[in-house]
Amino acid sequence: MAPKKLYIKTYGCQMNVYDSERMAEAMGGEGYETTERPEDADMILLNTCHIREKAAEKVYSELGRYKGLKAARPDLKIGVAGCVAQAEGEEIMRRQPMVDLVVGPQSYHRLPEMEAKVRSGGKALDTDFPEEDKFDHLKGRPKAKRGPTAFLTVQEGCDKFCAFCVVPYTRGAEVSRPAERVLTEARDLVERGVREITLLGQNVNAYHGHDGGLAGLIHALAEVDGLERIRFTTSHPNDMDEALIEAHGTCDKLMPYLHLPVQAGSDKILKRMNRQHTAEQYLRLIERLRAARPDLHLSGDFIVGFPEETEADFQATLDLIEAVEYGSAFSFKYSERPGTPAAERPQVPEDEKDDRLQRLQALLTKQQRSLQDAMVGRDVHVLFEKPGRLPGQMVGKSEYLHAVHVETSGIVPGDLARIRIESSGPNSLKGVMNPL
Ligand code: 5AD
Ligand code: SF4
Repeated sequence: MAPKKLYIKTYGCQMNVYDSERMAEAMGGEGYETTERPEDADMILLNTCHIREKAAEKVYSELGRYKGLKAARPDLKIGVAGCVAQAEGEEIMRRQPMVDLVVGPQSYHRLPEMEAKVRSGGKALDTDFPEEDKFDHLKGRPKAKRGPTAFLTVQEGCDKFCAFCVVPYTRGAEVSRPAERVLTEARDLVERGVREITLLGQNVNAYHGHDGGLAGLIHALAEVDGLERIRFTTSHPNDMDEALIEAHGTCDKLMPYLHLPVQAGSDKILKRMNRQHTAEQYLRLIERLRAARPDLHLSGDFIVGFPEETEADFQATLDLIEAVEYGSAFSFKYSERPGTPAAERPQVPEDEKDDRLQRLQALLTKQQRSLQDAMVGRDVHVLFEKPGRLPGQMVGKSEYLHAVHVETSGIVPGDLARIRIESSGPNSLKGVMNPL
């Protein structure tokens, strides 16, 4: 029998990317192959994100686009997964009756049973937080060859309750996967061609599935032969313990790039955000990290226009950015999330938020570009991932996560090489092989 086809559309963070891969693998066990074309699919799954406003509306409008397909082929099954599924639950099927299946992020291991149910004409809904670990139940990854980089989720959920954020509600409490399982999965990925693993968690540095926390896990992973690079994301400043700071200096495989969101630079706003630290504490932490690894590149997340943010508060965020010098960053206008404490507070006008976002992004872009330009003339190590757009070109990432293009015939994906950077473009660097 010809394999059935599964189309998955992924929104939001890297954890959703990882989850989509795992769902595809679980469905592989049920005879499904993935497709890039929704019109060929026997099942369409939207893996959704709920972090900012209008997420649910986007999902409903995306679903609307599949109406024609569903009308033409009533046996096409449509599912909604991820954080909107968790937050909206049954409401999705009520508003959009063509949806057959709604599955929350903690229940993906139940997808095969749910698929069987919808195949026989029923509807399936599961937004539980079950006792069992979804990763234990997902079938082993098939041994297909993989590209050189992979995500690996080691921790989920968040206990921090920042006043703007829905994650503690949609993803639940912090849970860590036992180290042995993580290591088994990492060895398997390496056998299949992976050279770099990014450990994922909503609060990955709160990982406690190994003695010594995330640092312990990183040191254990560094022993895996054939694994060349380790990264992790996303971290909370208060969970950067001494061992993890030190690991940046002692573990060669841990890359000198750290995503460490601070969100804002004003102590008043940080307090109202319930971030549980001050701007000064964050800056001291950056100093300790740079003492351990002087060439560390930092990345962050910022929110502008949080309720009651004044121009002076916003200026404090710009000052903090000036003090840190970020290699890259993500920035957002505050978006009201129903059910979170900040949604109830006096809001900053939209045009004010737009103006602040523009100013913030101008500064961040300038910093990003200047750190990228500073690479010219330096040697970096590049893990090559794929051919570039021009013939004879290969592209990969440096240890600092810059994209690097090289014209060469002697490199294949998965190779690591020392590259002398010769020029810096808008979004990437160019270099030449430098074997000496
Ligand atoms: N509004 C705007 N940005 C938000 N983030 C989380 N919740 C909100 C919100 N309600 C941002 C934070 C977080 C990133 C993943 O998304 O900066 O670090
Ligand atoms: Fe959300 Fe804060 Fe938890 Fe990050 S630390 S997931 S921003 S509540």
